Formats: sequence, structure tokens, C-alpha cells
Amino acid sequence: MSLYTVTFNPLGKKVKVNRGTTLIEAASEADISINNVCGGDGICGHCRMIVTEGKVSGRISEKLTPDEIKKGYVLACMSSVESDVVVLIPEETLVREKDEADEDIIRHKRAEDVFCKDKWQPFPLVQKIYLELEQPSLSNNTADHQRVCSAIKNRLSVTFSQAGLKIIKSLPDILRDNNYHITATVGIRGNIAEFMYVEGGNTADKNYLVVVDMGTTTVVAHLIDANKYKTIDAKACFNSQGIYGREVTGRLISAEKEGSSKLHKLLIDDINELIGKLVRDNKVHFKDITAVICAGNTVMGHFLLDLPIENIRRTPYIATSIEPPPLRAAEVGIKINPRGLLYSLPGISGWVGSDLTAGILATGLNEKSETSLLVDIGTNGEVIVGNSEWIMACSASAGPALEGASVECGVRAEKGAIERVYVKAGEICYDTIGKAPPIGVCGSGIIDLLSVLLNEGIINRSGKIVKKISKRVTTKEGIKRYYLVLESENRNKKPVYITEADIENIITAKAAIYAAMKILLQRLDLQFTDIKHFYIAGAFGNYLDMENAITIGLIPNIPRDRVIFAGNTSIKGATIAALSQDALNKIIEIERNTTYYDLMGADDYIHEFTKAMFLPHTDIEVFQTVEV
Ligand code: FES
Repeated sequence: MSLYTVTFNPLGKKVKVNRGTTLIEAASEADISINNVCGGDGICGHCRMIVTEGKVSGRISEKLTPDEIKKGYVLACMSSVESDVVVLIPEETLVREKDEADEDIIRHKRAEDVFCKDKWQPFPLVQKIYLELEQPSLSNNTADHQRVCSAIKNRLSVTFSQAGLKIIKSLPDILRDNNYHITATVGIRGNIAEFMYVEGGNTADKNYLVVVDMGTTTVVAHLIDANKYKTIDAKACFNSQGIYGREVTGRLISAEKEGSSKLHKLLIDDINELIGKLVRDNKVHFKDITAVICAGNTVMGHFLLDLPIENIRRTPYIATSIEPPPLRAAEVGIKINPRGLLYSLPGISGWVGSDLTAGILATGLNEKSETSLLVDIGTNGEVIVGNSEWIMACSASAGPALEGASVECGVRAEKGAIERVYVKAGEICYDTIGKAPPIGVCGSGIIDLLSVLLNEGIINRSGKIVKKISKRVTTKEGIKRYYLVLESENRNKKPVYITEADIENIITAKAAIYAAMKILLQRLDLQFTDIKHFYIAGAFGNYLDMENAITIGLIPNIPRDRVIFAGNTSIKGATIAALSQDALNKIIEIERNTTYYDLMGADDYIHEFTKAMFLPHTDIEVFQTVEV
């Protein structure tokens, strides 16, 4: 296959790629972050570049004006390299500092302490133990290996420990060179304590774990001091796999066509980048990071380990593994202590992953006698209902509209994104992140906007724009749009609007999630009113206006004090498991005891979904207190 050079200006970065590689993939290989709200689907129009030399192929996008096309503008996700190419990346296409330019990521950086020693028995999955061993003599002639293992067993009260050949071979020298004062790093692998690393002297005070939430949109990593049971820092970045689709389905299709190794590498690179930043900012050595504990949806879990993914997308949707054993992190390319372990937490099915088992643990849903519901609102909406006796789970594809994609002026929660919309003194007002001139609307703003438009009578319950407002409501190609910000009102000279097609995408997303909750409850013969704790997981929940979410029917009309915005329950649960073997065992128990209900087999799902395709719902009486 021909190799071509792509030069990215004004950065001057060059990369060699195969013919047919898209410009957005080439940019990713050159380590350039490109604005790709729709995940390379050619919908958002944010990945514009100007081809100044060379040839690319691809369809002409209606996102570009004839004038722009004449000037050489292309969509990077839709343009394949056909020769050596030189492109110019416009300022607005570049995501400059992947982890700093974006408010969404800054929000993830809040490190939270979640481990409660009163509740969970402290027992980190990897521990460092300082040993002052008795020196051998004619009356104490135990072999070096057995001498260390028996000391570990005594200290940790475990019955079985093992060690690799390399470690065993290193023992005679390390023991004698250090006067039998050594630090053993011991990892828990199931019922076995693995004596995985040994060094001279006492380094037991330096034992760090990294907990990772592998989100489809964002990857978050927390650095945990395993001795202090504390989160000491957190970093986040966009999931670089985004160039292969905002939703996991797009990435699965891409992996099926071209193999999963590219997606595996992108995820590992993201994790390594975050670990690198944690290490640098906290003056920690890589060798003192002894384990990485990962949670995420099952597809991410497969990309993490580069497991075959072909069967997840096809009925009967079988994962390769939902409970992989602990592995050496280096085996998948994660850079920590070379002997460090990787724990990929167990999930429930191909479509309900370890982010939810960790979430169940973090919320304590599995311990309460009252029934709770946990919903993770994202491109996939996962729903868990249960209590201390039983747990059921299901998952519905919601699409990315609630995250700002598939909405023309949708943006991620970055600087300038409209995050709040409200009515003040009869006027529709908005707030942007960082008080910057508006660049578009992010998830929380989209929900507010729909609610405000409904309450103001600008849209009807079907999401159609019904009120004529001079300048603010116009029609383009037969589709009406409402301008929240007119071009003349914006220092950016860009209008921000919502179209009826956008509104339909948002209603479709919220209907999918609502219908999933409704069907699962019906199968259990329950009503929303039977739910005593309604947990909303994910960083998204933290910025959601509850009343507006109820007004549009995204969440049910239940007593407000039952709604709990639970934050990133994936990372919270994974942190608890990292610091307590009991908690990890509990997650395994949750995984084994949760019944997965496949909505594909639910004939009435479409019926419930159709009923939810109104604002807030066809059955208005279930949303009685919502004024429309
Ligand atoms: Fe290319 Fe959206 S149009 S990433």
C-alpha cells in the first residue's frame, strides 16, 4: 500500500499514512486533536480543514458552502488521502490543549474521596510490605523464596502466594545485598496473593493505584495513595477513539472492518497519557504505581484488552469476557511498574458494563431493602433496578443528541458552550461556560432550551415550532429553526439555533431512555412511584436541571427528594474496589447476581418508546405537575 505524507499547518506536523486514511485519522496519528463533535460521522461540520496541496477524495458535504469548497475546505472525517497532502487547520477546528481547553474535562478533575473505612475492610488490591527477615543459619535454612512467601502470608493472612520465575531468580542477590530488609509488592489475583516485585530497603510508603473510568466520550484517571486511602489527583481527556464514532456502535463497526488494534491503541495511549500527567504533576515514580483498575462499558473493556468484539453487536450479543482475570498491565501496553497489575472490573453483559457494576456498589443500591433505580444517561442509556434481594439491568441506544452531537449547534461542554437557558423578566436568557461568547449548546443547555421553548409555547408537545417570532424563528429547506442567539447578538458573529430536526433527535434520545426505564419496571410489576432512590449517574447528571429534565420527560415525575445526582459512580465504585478486596468481591457478586433483560426481546418497547416521543409524554397525566 502507498504511503503518503500529510503535513498539518500551521503546526508544521507531518505524518506518513496509508492511502485512504482519512485526514482526521492522520491528525490523530500526528497527535493533533480535532474538533469532532459527531465522532467522524460527517454530521457536525466541525472538523473543517483546508487542503492547500495534494489530493483527497470523499463526498462533498452540505455542511460546506460552495464558496468554502472553492477555497479548498473539506471535512477531515470524510476526506481520504490520495497523495502527499498539505492541509491548513483553521483555529476553530483545533482542540488546542486536549485536557485544558475543555470545561467538561476540568469538571472531571475534581478528585473525590470516596473510600469509607468503616464500611469497607481496607485491603488494597496491591500492597507493599516492608519485611525485615530473619537471616538464614544452619538452624533456619529455609530457602529464600519460601522465606519471603511465608512472611507475606503471615502479614496478609492469606493462605496461598505465588511468584514469577524472574522474581524468584532475583531473590538471592536482593536479600543479601540489603541485609534481608526488603519491600515486597503483593497483588491480589482472585484467591492468590502474587509476590510480584521485590526491592531493597523500605519503599512501602510509596504505593499508588490508578483508577480509570473508560467513558465513551471521556477517559478519567484518578491517582490513589493506597496507604492513605485517598484520591490525590485526577486527570481526564476526550476518548481519542471519538474519531471512529461518538457511539460505541460506530467504533465496533470500524473495528470489525479494520481490526480493533487501532482502537485498542488509542485507548491505551489515552490511559498512558493521563498516567504520565498524574506521575509528572504529583512527583510519583512509574515504578510506584502498582496497579490500574479500569471500569467502563463492555465494549471499552474489550478495546482495553484487545479482545475480539465481533459478537457483541450481533444477536444474541455475546461478549468475549465480562469478567477477565487480573493481568500484567504491561501486557496491554499500560506503562506503570513493569510487574504492575491491570484489573478490568466485571460487567453484566455485552451492553451493560463494569461502569454500572461499579455504580451499583458506589450507590449501595444492592444493599438497600427499598427498591432503587440507577440510570446512566449517555449515548447508551443503561438502567438498573433493584434492591438487596434482586437486581435487573437493561440498556437502550439513545444516540448522542443529549451530549450535543446530532444537534446542529451542539457542542461539548467547553468554553463558550451555552450550559443554562432560562426565562428572566419575560426574556429567554442563557449562560455560557466561562462567560465566553456563545459557540453552541451543550447537553445541559439543550435540555433547558427544550424545556423553556415548551413552557413558552414556542414548540408544541411534538417538538414542532409553532410560534412565529420575528427574526428568531425562520425556515430553511422546509425545516423551522429557533435562534437562541442571532448572529448580530454574538461577538463570535455566529448564530446559535435549534432546528425541528435537532429537537426530534433530542426527543428520540430521551424517549429511548424513558422507555427502557418503563419496560424494566413493567417486567418487575413496579411503577416509578415504587422507586425510593432514583440515581442519575455520570458527570452529565451534575449539570442537569432536574425540573427541566422532568418537563421534557427525560426523567419521570417523582418526588424530587428521591432524585440523587450521583456523579461519576463508575470511578467511585472502582476506587472502592481498588482499596478493598471485599468490595471487589462484592462487585463480582453483583455481576453474577444481576439479571440482564434484553430490550430487543421486548415487543412492547417500541410502543413505550412511541408514547414517550412527546413532551413530556403522551400520557400527560403521569407528568401532572408539569405545566405545559
Ligand atoms: Fe467531521 Fe463531525 S463532521 S467530525
